[in-house]
Amino acid sequence: MKISRFVAAIPGSATLAISAKASKMKADGIDVISFSAGEPDFITPEPILEAARVAMAKGATKYTPVGGSAGLKAAVRRYISRRVGVEYGDKEIIASCGAKHSLYNIFFTLLDPGDEVLIPAPFWVSYPTQVEMAGGVPVTVPGLASDEFVPSIDALEAAVTDRTTAIILNNPSNPTGAFWSADQLRAIAAWLDRHPGITVVSDSIYDELVYDGREATELLAIAPHLRDRYVLVNGFSKAFAMTGWRLGYACGPAPFVAAMENLQSQSTSNPNSVAQAAGIAALDLGDAVIAPMRASFQRRRDLIYGLLSDIPGLEVVKPQGAFYIFPDATPLLGKRAGDRVIADDMVLAEYLLEDARVAVVPGTPFGAPGFFRLSYACSDAEITEGCARIAASLAKLA
Ligand SMILES: Cc1ncc(COP(=O)(O)O)c(C=O)c1O
Repeated sequence: MKISRFVAAIPGSATLAISAKASKMKADGIDVISFSAGEPDFITPEPILEAARVAMAKGATKYTPVGGSAGLKAAVRRYISRRVGVEYGDKEIIASCGAKHSLYNIFFTLLDPGDEVLIPAPFWVSYPTQVEMAGGVPVTVPGLASDEFVPSIDALEAAVTDRTTAIILNNPSNPTGAFWSADQLRAIAAWLDRHPGITVVSDSIYDELVYDGREATELLAIAPHLRDRYVLVNGFSKAFAMTGWRLGYACGPAPFVAAMENLQSQSTSNPNSVAQAAGIAALDLGDAVIAPMRASFQRRRDLIYGLLSDIPGLEVVKPQGAFYIFPDATPLLGKRAGDRVIADDMVLAEYLLEDARVAVVPGTPFGAPGFFRLSYACSDAEITEGCARIAASLAKLA
């Protein structure tokens, strides 16, 4: 059957592809440790499940308004007011089927053909593809591992053209776990003041998962005057362990949100009604349910950081947030495993899957050749055993 040129040109998600390969190997009885999935291993906290049960029993099984129920919007308003200090009204909030869906709607609502979007690298794999799907042009701006992956203002400035329409901030970042300090954000705000035509798309999906008692600041909290050209995206998948519920949201200027809602009204309509009821409970519970998971992630971060740092050939920056760690393996490239030359991170990931039976995601799809990503949203035992296997396989390279 015919497939449109538009859809035929869409690449599949690299992270989902490697997770699927690892799951298939597991299903075939092969003992694979997977560090590939971008999702917490926890079940959604019980009070959130209970809120969903109650909502179902009360008949919350019907369409809601396209952009989300009044109850969910009120909960988003309370939550953002508490965390960011900015008040959003109902017309400035739209709920969608996950933060990924919010971002998709944002790019389609924002971009005309040829509009450029600055994407600090390393970046989440879906940003460039979504921008391209919407007719835009992704322009990557590299951040260095030595600067904790935050791009310099000079690098941002060098990437600006008269077609620059937006910049994506992902703070803390997937894949690096790095987050931008308040000083760095102040510098970005000052830079944005010099570029009034640039819209900020702020993906804060990991902002609750920050360690060592620190906090990730939302740029808007530092620079509330950016509000008219700022779209804040967040969701439930990561902090509330709700990946399967498919719920996320965006907050932005009312006319922009209305346009997003039009787009959504012709595709998915409202996000799942039961998930919305669960989402209200999640946002209102906040730290009461997040804190124990955050503590586990911090412990695992310390464990995996220590183990990977001891492996010769890997250079590792200690992540401050999210649940990923992103070693630089360039010192190992060009080495051999028997007949196979480890030419790049793609071959390295293949080698680790086959030899160590450990699934990692190569850095190239994140805009960082030579690196690879591990998600430590798995048990301490898996982290310990997986890192031992990686160490053993990398030790064989000559
Ligand atoms: C940076 C980033 N943004 C957005 C998403 C999408 O999350 P959701 O499950 O809410 O669609 C992810 C999921 O991996 C992510 O890593």
